Formats: sequence, structure tokens, C-alpha cells
Amino acid sequence: MTDYELLCRQAREMIASDPWYVAALSNLSAMIMETLENLNWAGFYILREGTLVVGPFQGKPACVHIPAGKGVCGTAVAEDRTLNVPNVHAFPGHIACDSASNSEIVIPLHRHGKPAAVLDIDSPLPNRFTAEDEAGLKNIAALIEEAVAWE
Ligand code: SME
Repeated sequence: MTDYELLCRQAREMIASDPWYVAALSNLSAMIMETLENLNWAGFYILREGTLVVGPFQGKPACVHIPAGKGVCGTAVAEDRTLNVPNVHAFPGHIACDSASNSEIVIPLHRHGKPAAVLDIDSPLPNRFTAEDEAGLKNIAALIEEAVAWE
């Protein structure tokens, strides 16, 4: 089980050392990948002119562009809600960047009240993300919204 309280505390300290989004999101993707078990990809897509563009991440090279409304990430942004997908193969339009992925969670990140990026985490295990993971990761997302500087 992941100690999200500890992860959130460490993330807060790390972001405080330099809130610039490239530094903060790079180290955050590494911290998530190191801390949560059974992941094959953890990182960020950033919304640019209506399209998600790959940002800092850990894992195999990923699709560079995802249009809003497409795949799990694009749907999470278009519908502005967290998607916890137990079986990505059953998700209509799922974009398979890494064939090892079987489950995925995507959490929108907001700027000025609107979705501006997503936190995307993939696992080779089906049904990897519990309600506790979802709650813990939403706390990390709230910390990013509060503490990261996007410019
Ligand atoms: N599977 C995602 C694409 C991004 S990769 O998982 C890194 C999707 O359907 O949006």
C-alpha cells in the first residue's frame, strides 16, 4: 500500500525548492514511479491549443499528441473528470502507447479553473488503482494545482 501522506509531504517539499513546472513535474513523475508498485508509465500531458502534448514522464517513449476527446487522457480533459479505467482494452478509443498497460488512471489538472494538463499513470496489472489510490493521487493533483508555476 502506498503512503500517500508521506508522498504528498515529500512532493510539497520538492516543489517548494523550485516550483517551475518542468523541474516539479519531472521529479514528481519519478517520485510516483518509485513509490507506487506495479506501474509501467507515470507522467503528464499538457494542453496546448486544444491538444494534449506529452510532458515530463517516466516509462517508455509515449504518443506526443493526444487530441482532447480522444483516448483516456483526452476524454478526462474533455469531460473534466478523473477516469479510473480497470481494463484499458475495454475503453473505447484507448490509445496504446505501451502494450504492457492494462489499467490506467487519469486526473485532470486545472489552471484558472479549467483543465490545463493531466496526470496519467499506467499499470500492467488489471484493476490496479483502488479508491485509496484515486483519493491519494487527487491530493497530489490538488498540490500541483496549488504549488506548481506553469511559466
Ligand atoms: N493510454 C493513454 C495514452 C497515453 S499513454 O498511456 C502514456 C490514453 O488512452 O489516453
